[in-house]
Amino acid sequence: EFADYVWPGMIVNPEKIISLNEIEFGPDDVVIASYPKSGTTWASEVLSAIAHEGNIDALKSIRMDERVPWIELDDKAWWIKFFYVWKNKMFSTGVDVRPAKKRICFTHLPLELLPTSILEGKCKLLYVARNPKDQAVSYFHFHRMARFLGLQTHTTWDEFFPLFCSGYLYCGSWFEHVLSYWKFTQNNPMAKFICYEDMKRDLMGEMESLEQFVGVPLSIEQRINVVKHCSFDSMKDNKMTNRNGVMLFNEKICKFMRKGIVGDWKNYFTVTQSEAFDELYKKKMEGSGLQFEFE
Ligand code: PPS
Repeated sequence: EFADYVWPGMIVNPEKIISLNEIEFGPDDVVIASYPKSGTTWASEVLSAIAHEGNIDALKSIRMDERVPWIELDDKAWWIKFFYVWKNKMFSTGVDVRPAKKRICFTHLPLELLPTSILEGKCKLLYVARNPKDQAVSYFHFHRMARFLGLQTHTTWDEFFPLFCSGYLYCGSWFEHVLSYWKFTQNNPMAKFICYEDMKRDLMGEMESLEQFVGVPLSIEQRINVVKHCSFDSMKDNKMTNRNGVMLFNEKICKFMRKGIVGDWKNYFTVTQSEAFDELYKKKMEGSGLQFEFE
């Protein structure tokens, strides 16, 4: 435990989190923040495409984790270093591309642990959220397949559900994470809050407002190409984005790019679990003005 949260010690360590305060984030940086499994990877590819002014060739030549690094990843751990050496060998195309207009990175840190310069509004912050029922199902699968999260591969949904509701898991309570960022992003010109479900319904529209937010406009044609490039099927088959082959993932359980749909929770929540969750949701979200779509 550190700062009252449980952490996957194999890949995130408190020293690294504290050291992030030394980074000076500036006006050309965009930080994507999210509770895990909310559409981080998807938003990262979309934002990276905008930062590269719609240049799909750049996206195809540089690995996503290089274009959009995870800031709190403990890059001193030997298995992470080993993994990068291997990846560089496997994926390097050696193609020279025009540098991106903006530096993009992502974090899952709870708001209060963000580096000071981000909290002070020195850079832009994009928060991505997803309806908590689908998020919970995606997180359930991730807990079974990610070797660093400490749950067993045979953990059942009925065992995971109360854990999720209690918030005693990596990144803490979904409600606290999302609501603190929701408050932070309100009336804050440096910050924006987007939802997975809105990206699913109208990615063209979401892109347009993201382009305005970061100040890099694209043509309609470029936008159409980016939307195609960022579809679930296209990202699933794209080795630069699909995170296949990550040693710390047990792909026999499931792939990182699992299903990518809205409403999968109906295949997992029992009626009793759904009603209990609805009650918790109502109590926690009351007065926040924040609403999600569940189907
Ligand atoms: S992580 O590990 O926290 O970074 O995961 P994150 O990227 O936030 O969330 C993973 C889920 O997002 C789905 N995904 C997508 N959905 C739709 N379209 C695209 N392009 C896309 N890319 C990733 C991914 O499949 C995970 O959701 P589930 O429900 O498990 O399929």
